[in-house]
Amino acid sequence: MIDPKTLAERFPGDFVFGVATAAFQIEGATNLDGRKPSIWDAFSNMPGRVFGRHNGDVACDHYNRLEQDLDLIQSLGVEAYRFSIAWPRIIPEGTGPVNEKGLDFYDRLVDGLKARGIKAFATLYHWDLPLMLAGNGGWTARSTAYAFQRYAKTAIARLGDRLDAVATFNEPWCSVWLSHLYGIHAPGERNMDAALYALHVTNLAHGLGVAAIRSERPDLPVGLVLNAHQTYAGSDSAADQAAAARAFDFHNGIFFGPVFKGEYPESFLSALGHRMPQIEPGDMETISQPLDWWGLNYYTPMRVSHDPSEGAVFPATLPAPPVADVQTDIGWEVYAPALGDLIRKLNAAYALPDCYITENGACYNMGVENGMVDDQPRLDYIAEHLGVTADLIGEGYPMRGYFAWSLMDNFEWAEGYRMRFGIVHVDYDTQVRTIKKSGQWYGELAGQFPKGNHRTA
Ligand code: FCB
Repeated sequence: MIDPKTLAERFPGDFVFGVATAAFQIEGATNLDGRKPSIWDAFSNMPGRVFGRHNGDVACDHYNRLEQDLDLIQSLGVEAYRFSIAWPRIIPEGTGPVNEKGLDFYDRLVDGLKARGIKAFATLYHWDLPLMLAGNGGWTARSTAYAFQRYAKTAIARLGDRLDAVATFNEPWCSVWLSHLYGIHAPGERNMDAALYALHVTNLAHGLGVAAIRSERPDLPVGLVLNAHQTYAGSDSAADQAAAARAFDFHNGIFFGPVFKGEYPESFLSALGHRMPQIEPGDMETISQPLDWWGLNYYTPMRVSHDPSEGAVFPATLPAPPVADVQTDIGWEVYAPALGDLIRKLNAAYALPDCYITENGACYNMGVENGMVDDQPRLDYIAEHLGVTADLIGEGYPMRGYFAWSLMDNFEWAEGYRMRFGIVHVDYDTQVRTIKKSGQWYGELAGQFPKGNHRTA
């Protein structure tokens, strides 16, 4: 087992070690204190969408157990907590009245973090769109971007003075492609035209959100969290190499391009541009305002080959088989070098600011035995990916922090509660939390920070 103290030596003393969650996955209390439904409440209650028809009604009951969960975070010894704010608690109908009680909850959360000396990294949108906005087209409607702008301003006006960093969106790839093209996440659409509208509206909302945040708190570091994909070609053939390049543009370029260069990728525009919504004058400037940081959520690489079928739509790829024979319980290939390849490739392609790994972790479903959870494979996964992160720091990349996904087992979207990513186990019958072996280990590592700065660069 990798000794946490030895691993700690590889990180600068101001490197931030944290844990992450998201509102819908842990809070429960979906009807309490004025919250109204989100698209995930609706989606998870439809037949055939979420495993076992699980939903977020109770989840980890975090809303009612806030103080003890904050104590848990503190007991782990981490320096930062990444959480998301639920839009349907703040402006329950998406537009219209602001719900003070919703703001009160996050007030207690950030105050509780400050009282315990823990940094607050907030995300404004982690997929729980107020359901009422879906009636107007949800993310396919330009009006939703302006509704988001108002929500961002409202949330930051109240909470921004005690936040250490804020992200507009978590993984827009999921709320755009996975939700509107592949139909796996809410609202479950399977339509390229809908997805292309959601893409531009989401990018626009990000830009409007950045401006709204800065109008309230000019000093608050603003970022965006992307689940960039390391796209490997399934073979050395020219066709597969070209497919991997198209996949890079389709899965990464459509966010990184607009945000960091002010333009959509050429290949993407020539294939699908005619199906995009109108890009209004000023949109690309709004989207490409400089960011203070960006977050990478990384779990597994993407491997693709060329799809030769007639009429295959851009990016015209097929999944290629994994290279590593190790997979987690959710079936994702474990291949840590991809994290390094990805950071190097993205930094070569774009001028990127400081980077936090805002999510990394693994799904292993072992339970409690004799009061303990022996999740050695998760521990190994985290250690290996932190090793790559340390390599990147050594190469001079501005990696500033790492957040383990997740603080605790939670509602894993379309997989419901059957897939567990926590470094803390949750018994959903009793709501008892048990720190897993990986959590103990991670706490030992994180507890070394912040410390005397031994940054070499
Ligand atoms: C990411 C999500 C997060 C969690 C992990 C496993 O895509 O941001 O909410 O579900 O995957």
